Amino acid sequence: MKVLITGGAGFIGSHVVRRFVKNHPDYKIVNLDNLTYAGNLENLIDVAKETNYIFEKGDIQDQNLIEQLFQNYQFDGVIHLAAESHVDRSISDPFAFARTNIIGTMVLLHVSVNAWKDNFENKRFYHISTDEVYGSLGESGFFTEETPYDPNSPYSASKASSDLFVRAFGETYGLPYVISNCSNNYGPNQFPEKLIPLFINNIIHKRPLPVYGKGENTRDWLHVEDHANAIDVVFHQGKNKETYNIGGWNEWKNIDLIHLLGNLMDNKLRRKSGDYQRLITYVKDRPGHDLRYAIDASKIAKELGWKPKYTFEEGLQQTIDWYLSNSEWLSNVTSGAYQDYYKNQYLDQ
Ligand code: NAD
Ligand code: DAU
Repeated sequence: MKVLITGGAGFIGSHVVRRFVKNHPDYKIVNLDNLTYAGNLENLIDVAKETNYIFEKGDIQDQNLIEQLFQNYQFDGVIHLAAESHVDRSISDPFAFARTNIIGTMVLLHVSVNAWKDNFENKRFYHISTDEVYGSLGESGFFTEETPYDPNSPYSASKASSDLFVRAFGETYGLPYVISNCSNNYGPNQFPEKLIPLFINNIIHKRPLPVYGKGENTRDWLHVEDHANAIDVVFHQGKNKETYNIGGWNEWKNIDLIHLLGNLMDNKLRRKSGDYQRLITYVKDRPGHDLRYAIDASKIAKELGWKPKYTFEEGLQQTIDWYLSNSEWLSNVTSGAYQDYYKNQYLDQ
């Protein structure tokens, strides 16, 4: 197979690229990424020289480029991860999210249909989406594949819109597609704007830990390698036109997660137990902040036999160890533009 993976230099994309390059040596894997602040080729140094891997720098909104790539490589499949992915950034610049997440996805869909329309057999467009499209849960219940879409942030609205365009291209033009909606990922290579790597970095540097609101919002955490494994399973075994929810059955209130992380970090850094607690700082809540996400992942378990392998404790230990032993990666990605982002998001309020 010849597979186009978009956003492969980002957090989840780099784990997906690595998995496909290593586990499918007979495939040709083309990684298209325009290397925004979140994209980093250092994430893929270990596979960069593999003969079944090619990197192409470019924007998913560039129709000429996508057509050229389809012509050069004759793709059989697309795994689409490229996106603007951070909710806080979507609040300050919603249009960037509409451009990449909606228009960029439409360009990929349009070019895929044109390239494949004479024979859709053995072709597949796999769209990677998020549980945030379902909106917010109350104290109980789970998101299933039947939960109506109810997005609250510009990020989730843009992802919901892109999911609907994928469906529409399937219904209208016959494009074979599959969609998965996953819960919060954590693990190595995540950009330190998201909760877990941000707090790891801030604890290392003894900087304040900005907890939004009362810290009572709840997320369902999944290790990124478990997500990459699920993506492999869905790409190969998922049914045409189906959606699969992917989650960790692992709900944590933010404040409880922060205590777990803080204790593990103090231990690893050989600091006095509880040292991290003086860094906890309650700050203004995120506007439109969803209270709770929790995925019912029984469909993918029953139909495709996938379940997560990491326990949360194991995964967090491995993640912390990775950040502690990759301080150069961390300082490279937190130099330059990151400083401006940090100032606008946390210091200028
Ligand atoms: P990320 O921000 O770490 O990476 C996004 C990648 O896309 C980067 O490499 C970036 O350079 C690239 N990119 C952005 N705009 C582009 C464009 N216009 N053209 C080409 N490349 C572009 O994101 P992530 O956390 O790895 O998320 C990947 C996908 O998974 C996204 O679609 C996101 O919505 C989805 N998702 C993420 C999570 C999570 O917890 N992180 C959970 C569920 C779903
Ligand atoms: O649910 C899947 C989604 O998870 C993905 O689609 C998104 O791409 C990904 O960014 C993530 O979204 P969240 O908004 O849930 O993740 P984030 O790490 O930004 O925040 C997690 C929780 O922590 C959330 O309740 C907000 C809170 N938070 C976050 C930051 C960055 C804080 O309290 N302080 C912070 O500084």
